[in-house]
Amino acid sequence: MLTIAVTAENADEPRVAVSPETVKKLTALGATVRVEKGAGAKSRFTDEMLKAQGAEIVDTAAAALSGADILIKVRRPSADEVAQLKPGALVIANLAPYDDRPGLETLAGTNASLFSMEFMPRITRAQSMDVLSSQANLAGYKAVVDAASMFGQAMPMMTTAAGTVPAARVFIMGVGVAGLQAIATAKRLGGIVTATDVRPATKEQVQSLGGKFIAVEDEEFKQAQTAAGYAKPMSAEYQKKQAELVANHIKSQDIVITTALIPGRPAPKLITAEMVRTMKPGAIIVDLAAERGGNCELTKPGETVEENGVTIFAPLNYSGRLAFNASNLYARNLLSFIDTMVDKKEKVLAVNWDDDVVKGTLVAKDGKIVHPNLSQPAA
Ligand code: NAI
Repeated sequence: MLTIAVTAENADEPRVAVSPETVKKLTALGATVRVEKGAGAKSRFTDEMLKAQGAEIVDTAAAALSGADILIKVRRPSADEVAQLKPGALVIANLAPYDDRPGLETLAGTNASLFSMEFMPRITRAQSMDVLSSQANLAGYKAVVDAASMFGQAMPMMTTAAGTVPAARVFIMGVGVAGLQAIATAKRLGGIVTATDVRPATKEQVQSLGGKFIAVEDEEFKQAQTAAGYAKPMSAEYQKKQAELVANHIKSQDIVITTALIPGRPAPKLITAEMVRTMKPGAIIVDLAAERGGNCELTKPGETVEENGVTIFAPLNYSGRLAFNASNLYARNLLSFIDTMVDKKEKVLAVNWDDDVVKGTLVAKDGKIVHPNLSQPAA
């Protein structure tokens, strides 16, 4: 018998790790899905909807956790929660593995096998398990819609009898998954879109979405992508050249969406306070990198700042602003991952510890932190 526990997230996390659809599919795999009552409420998944698909709704977190084989969560669970699972149980969540190292060690000390979905390898087979992509895509869309709604002017060019309404100029900084969706959304709304990144592969992607690519395309730029597909931290010299380019461009922009991230590091600061002061009053900056400190010097993560008439909007947990969609996609990512760990005939847990998706995401096992990215405690 395979039991999967789902407990409520903390107060500021509206997403949840199961959906009605995945409850049904996990049940079909032979699992009992025990959900703490109300856990899906902020994603608009009622207990009744989950129950109708086969979930067992229980009154307390303890009742969901007691003796379970797998705990699935959006955020890192507490060691107290994990200690209530079956010995050696699996925990699958966004563990924020680079944050709070002592807390991670304590969690590892429960002897549970901890999997961090953020570490899912970006290989073709794992695309359906890629939580960074599923969540960033929604965030990129929502950032543009939020900016359009905060911007006190129209987005598309409109030719009317009374004259022409100009199109808004939208600048996307960082063209990963979120940035690409932001470009597509801003184009659909009629904006004039420019975008920048340090990875050369993004140039063609921007152009294929109808955006104009601008970047410092020197020798360093040509080498800026790691084998894993991420950006490298850039040299001080490159940063200086990039800052000059951004400073010239940003003055004329109405909406700026920043998404630039480097795994395991603070977000690069791409917009200085001085640049913000040169922007037009009424301009909007949406900083999707807020959880990593933000891409703008003036960003206050989790707050909205106004400087010289320019609004800097930097909510934490951006995909949580579309909790229904975000939970549905996240739950499907988890389902695809769990599907690889179940023996379909015997309907029992059968983890293949040599599988790339397992090895890639396994953070701790038998009391020890085992992931190569975490061999040195993060600074
Ligand atoms: P991310 O969230 O780590 O970073 C966002 C963007 O910021 C990246 O495009 C990065 O190059 C850019 N950036 C970093 N430093 C910058 C700077 N100083 N100035 C300007 N831009 C900067 O990236 P994300 O969205 O996770 O995507 C990373 C890569 O993974 C991309 O190549 C993406 O296409 C690829 N990918 C591959 C998948 C697969 O094959 N299964 C699935 C999803 C993404």
